[in-house]
Amino acid sequence: MFISSLLFFILLPLIFIFFKTPKSNPNSPPKSYPIVGHYLSIYANRHRLTQFTSDLVLSSPTLTTVLRRPFGQRRIITADPAVVRHILKTNFSIYQKGDIFRSTLFDVLGNGIFNVDGDDWKFQRQLSSHEFNTKSLRHFVEHVVDVELNDRLIPILAAAAANDSVLDLQDILQRFAFDNICRIAFGYDPVYLTPSLPKAKFAVAFEDGVRISSERFRLVSPLIWKIQRFLNIGSEQRLKEAVTEIRQFAVKILTEKKEELARNPSIQSVDLLSRFLSSGHSDENFVIDIVISFILAGRDTTSAALVWFFWLISRNPAIEAEIVKEIDLKSESLVYDEVKDMVYTHASLCESMRLYPPVPADSKMANADDVLPDGTVVERGVMVSYHPYAMGRVEGLWGKDWAEFRPERWLETDETTTGKLRFVARDPYTYPVFQAGPRICLGKEMAFLQMKRVVAGVLQRFTVVPVAEDGGEPVYVAALTSKMKGGFSVKIRERKE
Ligand code: HEM
Ligand SMILES: *[C@@H]1O[C@H](CO)[C@@H](O)[C@H](O)[C@H]1NC(C)=O
Ligand SMILES: *[C@@H]1O[C@H](CO)[C@@H](O)[C@H](O)[C@H]1NC(C)=O
Repeated sequence: MFISSLLFFILLPLIFIFFKTPKSNPNSPPKSYPIVGHYLSIYANRHRLTQFTSDLVLSSPTLTTVLRRPFGQRRIITADPAVVRHILKTNFSIYQKGDIFRSTLFDVLGNGIFNVDGDDWKFQRQLSSHEFNTKSLRHFVEHVVDVELNDRLIPILAAAAANDSVLDLQDILQRFAFDNICRIAFGYDPVYLTPSLPKAKFAVAFEDGVRISSERFRLVSPLIWKIQRFLNIGSEQRLKEAVTEIRQFAVKILTEKKEELARNPSIQSVDLLSRFLSSGHSDENFVIDIVISFILAGRDTTSAALVWFFWLISRNPAIEAEIVKEIDLKSESLVYDEVKDMVYTHASLCESMRLYPPVPADSKMANADDVLPDGTVVERGVMVSYHPYAMGRVEGLWGKDWAEFRPERWLETDETTTGKLRFVARDPYTYPVFQAGPRICLGKEMAFLQMKRVVAGVLQRFTVVPVAEDGGEPVYVAALTSKMKGGFSVKIRERKE
């Protein structure tokens, strides 16, 4: 194996000399060559892999395509709802996280819910689902989100408006989400969103850990990072440091929590960590693994969704006006039920995530041979990815105006009540932005509540104005989650001067 990969590195430059790097062109599928497969096209498009694989799958008449990676590895990519249903529900037991995903992310995630299958997964899923009952969600909106919003986000936006200064809204929203998810997971407030925008050690360690681990997926062969890790050099050295920092920090919090629970066993904690500890799970590594998965899940997803949402509405003033109209009908300090009831805002968020899904593509690995509904043969060990970013762009699913930002496509007039708007969900296999089936996102409802509360809090008072010179579309880049390349520079205006 080592020799073949050495050979590969010697061959690669030669191949580059003989074949010109292909330009991406959605009308002509990229060429596949012996040994390296589609690697040349993949390499040429390494900065826009989401768009590249999206173009590829959309150019296939069946909406399913096969990407050939070096050494004959195949990866099946699909945007066909029938295939998505098959892998996420019908044959769920065949399509698991699998070894590649698991070993690549193991250093950071350990045996947390994101990184396990089978009974380990089922157990953690059941245990943590209590964190998402109505009572916890209500507490989350009315205490955690509201405090972060009123005491931190709004003052920062108000100061920016008063000073006419430029903010990176992406950074701000990531900090917001990080504080939120740490309070849910740990019951700990990292105070990451403050006017000085500090580089908090734990947050930076988390950022590096996730970034470096997800970059491992892009290497030609996992051997590269395994060797680097063995020699403890390059990015793997930083990864090791980051993981140690994350773990040490988690242990510190865990120890404090245990002491607190010992002093006062009747304490009514709503965070995940306390919930696990008080239900008798004392294995530190296990509890820490679960908590880390949750931070990862909640950290960049809602911020990714909101960044694109604010950009889209800045380009669509009529839609912004509709949202503000809906917010103005609610009381000034929105309570849980009012947030739930923001139908137009809900539709607008779904619509922005259709075009810019926070998790653009997600992969499973087949643990047995299978055949997809369209006849594609799947051998054991093959990766099968569903591609929400591509699916939001399928004309057959969304109509000729698929490229338009139009929240109305999610709404209908309710004839029984006096013409009120009603939200009409699409089936989750057509819109797998939160995944679908038994492993559908656990935090979906919490995410919507948080996002709607933020949208209401911000737009009630401010307008967000992007400052990009050309006014063009920001660049969508994605690793595990999507980001706006270079951040999202905005100015803030008070709505009622
Ligand atoms: C807009 C925001 C969000 C989006 C688009 C989103 C999307 C997703 C997706 C695509 C998955 C499947 C990942 C995989 O299995 O590979 C997932 C899983 C998960 N999400 Fe979310 N998520 C969001 C917010 C959240 C939040 C705020 C939380 C926690 C508070 C959360 C908790 C989870 C958990 C625990 C899982 C794992 C579920 C399992 O494996 O059974 N998510 N999410
Ligand atoms: C997979 O799906 C097909 C139908 O599409 C079914 O015949 C087969 O039994 C399934 N296999 C498993 C293990 O669920
Ligand atoms: C920005 O505004 C805040 C509050 O309005 C003020 O305290 C601060 O000095 C201002 N900063 C700058 C750079 O003008």
